[in-house]
Order: sequence, then C-alpha cells, then structure tokens
Amino acid sequence: MLILGAGEVRAVLDTAQQDVLTAVRTAYELHARGLTAVPHSVFLRFPDDDRNRIIALPAYLGGQHPVSGVKWVSSFPGNISRGLDRASAAIILNSMESGAPEVFLEASAISARRTAAGAALAAATLSSSTPDTGVTLLGCGLINFEVLTYLRTALPSIDTVTLYDLDATRAESFADKALARWPELKIDVAQRAEDALTAHKLVCLATTASTPHLGTEYCRPGTLVLHLSLRDLTAESVLSSVNIVDDADHVCRAATSLHLAEQQTGHRDFITSSIGEILVSGKPYVRDEDTLTVFSPFGLGCLDLAVADLVRREALARGLGASLPGFLPSGEQLFA
Ligand SMILES: NC(=O)c1ccc[n+]([C@@H]2O[C@H](COP(=O)([O-])OP(=O)(O)OC[C@H]3O[C@@H](n4cnc5c(N)ncnc54)[C@H](O)[C@@H]3O)[C@@H](O)[C@H]2O)c1
Repeated sequence: MLILGAGEVRAVLDTAQQDVLTAVRTAYELHARGLTAVPHSVFLRFPDDDRNRIIALPAYLGGQHPVSGVKWVSSFPGNISRGLDRASAAIILNSMESGAPEVFLEASAISARRTAAGAALAAATLSSSTPDTGVTLLGCGLINFEVLTYLRTALPSIDTVTLYDLDATRAESFADKALARWPELKIDVAQRAEDALTAHKLVCLATTASTPHLGTEYCRPGTLVLHLSLRDLTAESVLSSVNIVDDADHVCRAATSLHLAEQQTGHRDFITSSIGEILVSGKPYVRDEDTLTVFSPFGLGCLDLAVADLVRREALARGLGASLPGFLPSGEQLFA
C-alpha cells in the first residue's frame, strides 16, 4: 500500500497544471465513448443536519491505463468559520488485477483541481466568437481560486476579474491572495451580485447555496456560466439557456437546478450536449451569442481517478509517499 499525504499530492499537482487539464480532458472523452463506469454517488447525511454531508464516488476509468477506485469527500460548511477548508477528501485506488486497494491519497487538492480543470477546459472549449478577457467569480472560496488558477493556463487572454461573495471579507481576502500571486491581473470586488453578473461574459458560480437564488437576467447575451455549485440558478434560467453537462443522468439528481428544471417540465430536452461529446466530435464549438450557455458538471468520479492516477505515477517516479508493506494480508493469512 502506497500512502500519499496532502503535501506530497500538492507537490506533484503544483507543477502539473497542463497534465491535469489533459487528464481531465481524456477522462471526459473516455466517458463520452462509454469507456468509464460511474455509478451514482452516495450521499451520507446526518439526522437533524441539512448542512453537512459525505459523498462516495466510486468509478472506473478505461483507456490505456485502466484505473478503479473511490473518492470519499465531505462538505462541512461550518469549517470555514473555524478557519478550516469546507471540504476534505480521500481516494483509494484499487488494483485492476486483484481488486486490492493499493494507493491511499489525501484528495482535497485532487478534488478541487479536477473541478477547476474541468471548468477551465469547458471555458476554453465553449468559446466565444470574441475571446474572453474577463471573468466573474461568484463565491470566493477555494474552488473559485482554483478555477482562476486553471483559467490562467487554459485561457491566458483573461486579465480582468470581478469578484462577489455574500461575505465581503471573503471577497476581499480572495482579491488580496490573487493579487499577491498574479500582480498583473485587474481585480475588483462588486458590491452586488447583479453588477458582477453584468461585468463579463464568462461567469463561474462556486457558492454554497443549496436552493436557487439567481436569475440570469443580468448576464449579457453570449455569456457562459460555469455552474459548478449546481444549485444557484433558477429552473427558469436553466430552461432559457443552452445547457451543456458532464452527464445528464448524474446532474439531474440531488435537487440541482437542472433536476428542478426536469421536474418542472417532465423532460430533459433542455440539455443540448455533454462536454465529452463536444470534445470527441473534434469540431470547434462557438457558443450562441444571442443566448446564455450554462455548463453544469455534477463532478464525475472518473475525473478524480484520472488525476489520482497521474499523482500516483509521478509520486512513484519521484519516490514520494510512504509504503506500508504489511497493510494487505499475505496469502497464508487469507487461508489460515
Ligand atoms: N460540480 C463539482 O464537481 C464540484 C466539485 C467541488 C465543489 N463543488 C461546489 O463548489 C462550491 C464551492 O466550494 P468551495 O470549496 O469553494 O466552498 P467555500 O465554502 O470555500 O466557498 C463558498 C463561498 O460561497 C459564498 N457564498 C455562499 N452563498 C453565496 C451566495 N448566495 N452568493 C455569493 N456567495 C455565496 C460563501 O460566503 C463562501 O465564501 C460548493 O457548492 C461545492 O459543492 C462542485
């Protein structure tokens, strides 16, 4: 058993943005080609507690180097006020020969960065006829910081950022951190969500809202909304937009805005395509300049495996991590 802690995982990921983007792209393409298995995630919730949850995402990713395993990711929003990250995660990778668990990784960075890479890839793929130079980030937490990091690689034309958060101190400290890292960026903090939505034709929603609170009437025609938090937009906004998803069966669940839109209409005809189908088609995609495009990724476990496998390979090459040789039973113990 190889054990990779947070520091080792981050050491690999910090220098591997392009590789993460490629791994996520390949995972979306394999998914579109039917070469993955992604059972529905299981949500563990607690009695008398509608805030905290832990989700299991088992998955298989085929292709050149098949990999299987599970991500176990928790969301405890109250952590933020205690100075901790909202989410924590671990991934187990299993051997495709014996099924035995063989790698155990701290996975909060894997989870956040595969989400950000997916969003940045979507922004680059669902392109505007005029290149995006600005982005609005609504919700100034860890995920949108990673999104900005990955947008810097996938869409280097972006030089202006508008921030909005219900908690103004979160927006201000995000701005400080971003300027410290990228002094060349123009960053402003909007006082109202409406102003932030109007500012740019690329918008990323990564809030912790659990019920829809946002219409898209303030967005300019041709805007791409990366709807990572999945429950911000009203069903009406979803229904009036071009909708691209990662997987319709996954995203129309768990009271997401698309799930509500499906319940309202009784169908899923409002979903145009999946990002994997668009990538596999090989045809350049230009988004409709007269309407809004909404990308809603539920977050597929096969993306986590793709990035975890990349980390495993690189960690082995660099000799990182601790090995625990006695973790698995020996053959004699099995039959004793
Ligand atoms: N789709 C995916 O694959 C995927 C993967 C990981 C995380 N997520 C989602 O991304 C979201 C953000 O995660 P995070 O780790 O950055 O959380 P976080 O708690 O670090 O940050 C969320 C921020 O949103 C702000 N916020 C809450 N409601 C708001 C509102 N109505 N308007 C503006 N700001 C608001 C909060 O004040 C907070 O600063 C979560 O909902 C999480 O579930 C999605």
